[in-house]
Amino acid sequence: NKKAFIFDLDGVVVDTAKFHFVAWQRLAADIGINFTEKENEQLKGVSRVDSLKKILEWGNKTLPQEEFDQKLIEKNNQYLSLIEGLSVNDILPGVHSFLLDLKAKSQPIALGSASKNARPILKKLGIIDLFDVIVDGTNVTKAKPNPEVFLSACSQLGFKATDSIVFEDSKAGVQAANTAGMISIGLGDQTNLNEADAVFQSFEEMPSDYIKTLLNTQK
Ligand code: G6P
Ligand code: MG
Repeated sequence: NKKAFIFDLDGVVVDTAKFHFVAWQRLAADIGINFTEKENEQLKGVSRVDSLKKILEWGNKTLPQEEFDQKLIEKNNQYLSLIEGLSVNDILPGVHSFLLDLKAKSQPIALGSASKNARPILKKLGIIDLFDVIVDGTNVTKAKPNPEVFLSACSQLGFKATDSIVFEDSKAGVQAANTAGMISIGLGDQTNLNEADAVFQSFEEMPSDYIKTLLNTQK
């Protein structure tokens, strides 16, 4: 009895939202836009390009294409310097043992993330080898809530969408999983993730035999 277990990265495996926030805030300040933590919430799961588009929209500004591209490079360089020191200690509570438990049960594991920095981040966390398949922002063209990233992950693992389980912290990600016909497990705030099949504050809050429960769950 096997299923494809697909994990989002940012906000599920590691808390990088605070670093994205600092980097976007500096960029916004540079071009005279006030960017708040509340707005940052709305960028969870949103690709780099679309994030900058939204920030400009909120600030009522436009940038010529060349400058737009330059700002994205600057933002990413800033972000990369902020996450330089990421280590195994930054894996979110309960995630590491959940992954090891899946491994022990020979369950297939994939990453389904919008981030183009996914591989270096997983390396820093020391868990890249636990993933059988990695689909990230360098592999997909359609952003969540489009299910492309998750469908690609499950097909590379050789599973049907209906035999796949997605762990997500963003509304767009939960919607992507649901659209694909996958079981969606939300991590975070119940109100924001109410479309998910189940929601937990963290992996630590899941019942101890939750993997078994999931293996016996049909969408
Ligand atoms: C994830 C994060 C977003 C981020 C996106 C792209 O979805 O939640 O905040 O913008 O990945 O990440 P990248 O590392 O490629 O800029
Ligand atoms: Mg996320």
